[in-house]
Amino acid sequence: RDRQPIVAIDGPAGAGKSTVARQVAAQLELVYLDTGAMYRAMTWLVLQRGITLDDECAIAELADKYEIELTPTSNLQSPVKVWIDGNDVTQVIRTPEVTANVSAIAAQTSVRKSLVRQQKNWGKKGGLVAEGRDIGTHVFPDAEIKIFLTASVKERARRRQLDYETQGLSSINLKQLEKDIAERDWKDSTRTVSPLRKAEDAVELQTDGLSISEVTGKIVYQYQKHLSNL
Ligand code: CDP
Ligand code: CDP
Repeated sequence: RDRQPIVAIDGPAGAGKSTVARQVAAQLELVYLDTGAMYRAMTWLVLQRGITLDDECAIAELADKYEIELTPTSNLQSPVKVWIDGNDVTQVIRTPEVTANVSAIAAQTSVRKSLVRQQKNWGKKGGLVAEGRDIGTHVFPDAEIKIFLTASVKERARRRQLDYETQGLSSINLKQLEKDIAERDWKDSTRTVSPLRKAEDAVELQTDGLSISEVTGKIVYQYQKHLSNL
């Protein structure tokens, strides 16, 4: 075969997509693609330029002009580096400010068009674990393995709180996190362009109470099952 399979992982914030996708990619020796990081980088650029979220023309112009660079690291400990317009934005795209604005930017047609084109380029040769919101439904509808990861809002907020604590950004209120996550879920799943939803042929994994390695194991199993059915 000249094309390696694509593993598409979608789901809401805090479901474990990034963590698990990286583990799966490392175990299967595939390339990991974090599409959320691309929407975050575009959001960072819009904010940095002082463009308001409703200025769709100016945003479309930026989306058209700038490619996002991702340098995958094979080291599971260090994050994939993200660059836009000559800036290393690996860290700044994770700030609460970017997080609060990313869903509004990701809902714009021009932004999705440009980023999806870049994502499809990554997938040309296959051999990819891509995670996001619309990978199985829109970016790679022919992906060989499709996973829809979920967890309750409570569990996802608890995970995010732990994330912030380990980054030294403590004292983020759990109720507030639950509210933010529920709001982003709502925005992502009700927007008109490529909303977050489970592809019909995706395997749904409910991850409350499951460890990272258990979830990783289930996805690796789906991949191996696919290979043995060829
Ligand atoms: O890691 P977390 O779930 O917080 O978010 P992310 O995966 O980094 O994605 C950030 C935001 O980008 C999401 O809330 C979506 O609004 C948007 N996104 C999207 O619309 N489509 C994707 N394929 C990936 C992310
Ligand atoms: O990418 P997404 O927003 O879907 O989630 P993430 O950033 O990969 O995961 C959020 C947090 O949950 C991370 O700190 C993971 O270590 C943790 N996690 C977990 O505790 N149990 C799982 N089964 C999966 C992830």
